Amino acid sequence: MKISGKNYHTIFVHPDNKSIVQVIDQRKLPFEFDFVYLKTVSDAFDAIKNMTVRGAPLIGVTGVFGIYLGLINDFDENWRPRLIKSAEYLKSARPTAVNLTILIDEMVALLEVCSSKEEVCEKAFKEANRMKLREIDWSEAIGNYGCELIEAISKEKNGQPVNILTHCNAGWLACIDWGTATAPIYKAFQKGIPVHVWVDETRPRNQGARLTAWELLQEGVSHTVIPDNTGGHLMQHGMVDLCLLGSDRTTSTGDVANKIGTYLKALAAFDNNIPFYVALPSTSIDFTLKDGVREIPIEQRDSEEVCLMEGKLETGEVTKIRIINEMSSVANYGFDVTPAKFITALITERGICKANSTDITRLFPEKIV
Ligand code: MRU
Repeated sequence: MKISGKNYHTIFVHPDNKSIVQVIDQRKLPFEFDFVYLKTVSDAFDAIKNMTVRGAPLIGVTGVFGIYLGLINDFDENWRPRLIKSAEYLKSARPTAVNLTILIDEMVALLEVCSSKEEVCEKAFKEANRMKLREIDWSEAIGNYGCELIEAISKEKNGQPVNILTHCNAGWLACIDWGTATAPIYKAFQKGIPVHVWVDETRPRNQGARLTAWELLQEGVSHTVIPDNTGGHLMQHGMVDLCLLGSDRTTSTGDVANKIGTYLKALAAFDNNIPFYVALPSTSIDFTLKDGVREIPIEQRDSEEVCLMEGKLETGEVTKIRIINEMSSVANYGFDVTPAKFITALITERGICKANSTDITRLFPEKIV
């Protein structure tokens, strides 16, 4: 997708140096567009942990590039136990998005059979890039399937703009390209279907206000940023045609963990009879889980994210200010779980399915454990 008219991926190998992986520094957006160079496994861990990269598909791909960096920098006869150690270390960076574990486990299984340094490093490089390109293909496929839903609503509305509500950033910044929730929007936009996006600001880190709004602006898609509590009101007044969100971990039964606040939007959509779609690649489905509320680990993050707001002063300086007194206690749950009964359908790379085990199994029969 485009930044100032130029195509980028969120992660890529340095064009002149195969031992450096570059990522867009999402902590600085929308105020500054910059990159971070990852050279070691701990650089990859830190980038995931400190939110330089974020979003379920992107942290998965960063994890496998981290494995590659670990191997090229540190290889001796003990490389196999070290590979397992790096894998566990990287997986521990963030607990909710299952993509990190799924991709790293896939990578380890592919590498364990190698014998020489040359073979394992070459394979790690090849597989990390293959997984990256696969994520792009899957995002694009999600875009094509989801676009059909938007097109159908557009026809019903006789070409009036389709109003889509989204939460957090499930855009191309959270992936490699296209995004999950935004892919159908970009496909519709490219087809000339009029769309307008309501962007939840997404406290406390404001991924909607900071990232999704910036991303949609780069692509020229009409959008409006709204405080998180606005969605219900808009839905009651016929100003939302569909909700379109991503997922960090979905169970085999269709319960969806996504950024905190998603559940409340699903309840409001349910009450107002508005379709609530979740767009996700199969690398976000945890086929080992059945009960999302009980089983999905929910990340609890630093209270500073709630207490301090970052913004740009009129002088141009980016700074943080405290918005809560120093004595009150603060909770910062990163995600919540929306039970499958509130979800109209899942949009995956293999098509659209109901959020239940029968339909999910029909699309992914080989994944059932
Ligand atoms: O904490 P973040 O910014 O990594 O959370 C990201 C989200 O919740 C996204 O909506 C999610 O990863 C959807 S998939 C692109």
